[in-house]
Amino acid sequence: MDKLSGKVAIVTGGASGIGREICRQFAAEGCAALAIFDVNEAGARETVALIGDTATKCFVHKVDVGDLANVDAAVKQFVSEAGNSPDILVNNVGWDLPFLFIESQPDFWDKLIHVNYKGTLNTCWTVLKLMVQAGRGGRVINFASDAGRLGAGHEAVYSGCKAAVIGFTKAIAREHSKHNILCNVVSPGATRTAGYDNVKYKRDDPDKFEEKNVRQIPLRRIGEPGEVAHMVTFFASDDASYIQGQTISVSGGVTMLG
Ligand SMILES: NC(=O)c1ccc[n+]([C@@H]2O[C@H](COP(=O)([O-])OP(=O)(O)OC[C@H]3O[C@@H](n4cnc5c(N)ncnc54)[C@H](O)[C@@H]3O)[C@@H](O)[C@H]2O)c1
Repeated sequence: MDKLSGKVAIVTGGASGIGREICRQFAAEGCAALAIFDVNEAGARETVALIGDTATKCFVHKVDVGDLANVDAAVKQFVSEAGNSPDILVNNVGWDLPFLFIESQPDFWDKLIHVNYKGTLNTCWTVLKLMVQAGRGGRVINFASDAGRLGAGHEAVYSGCKAAVIGFTKAIAREHSKHNILCNVVSPGATRTAGYDNVKYKRDDPDKFEEKNVRQIPLRRIGEPGEVAHMVTFFASDDASYIQGQTISVSGGVTMLG
């Protein structure tokens, strides 16, 4: 259990769901320092309490990832707390509500872009510069969704943002290969979290929504947050040292791309 021994990591959205499980796995794998960037400070502190007594120094930063000044200040503070620049950046934050596109409003699109796309640009822009400067290589793990690979009804703008994250990650992977900074994407399918419930319980018939979801999943069940977190931990570890610019779905087989 020391695959991330000595590493300094930032995990966004670590107050809940998949992000919380990533933080728990990173601590279990021996991360030296871990920062949780989340708007939900209380939830992030709960994650730290769940991690409990380990060698990992945990830091909570109340950050809106869509706000560049906020991200920049938090990264600077974390570098001084950790005594080193980040080796690993995980952009796990994501948010959505279900609307048909023509019934949605431009201010809703703005919020989706702010959280799901701008958030990833802001942290990558800030942290990649530090990784290049430090010269130790690094890992960037961004979050898409199978909605971004397939297109999901009632999630048009979210699907677009997640597709953008995939294209962006491939581009930064090419730009940073010479620095041994590996940039990959984890693409979850339906996963049992507060974020999933947010979408499920806004539907007219939540049970029917879930039944339909499960019918479309070859493994015939909703995923658990820890199952997605395992792919992030793998991408962050030395086991993934020759994997660059890839998108891996963790979705029970919904998306099978050759
Ligand atoms: N759960 C699913 O079914 C599912 C499916 C496909 C993709 N995903 C993706 O997986 C990732 C994790 O999803 P989840 O279900 O665990 O989400 P979640 O809603 O349970 O947790 C998201 C976290 O992000 C935080 N957050 C939201 N906006 C923020 C902002 N602007 N700045 C900082 N923090 C912010 C929230 O406070 C929360 O702690 C997301 O990128 C999501 O789009 C999830």
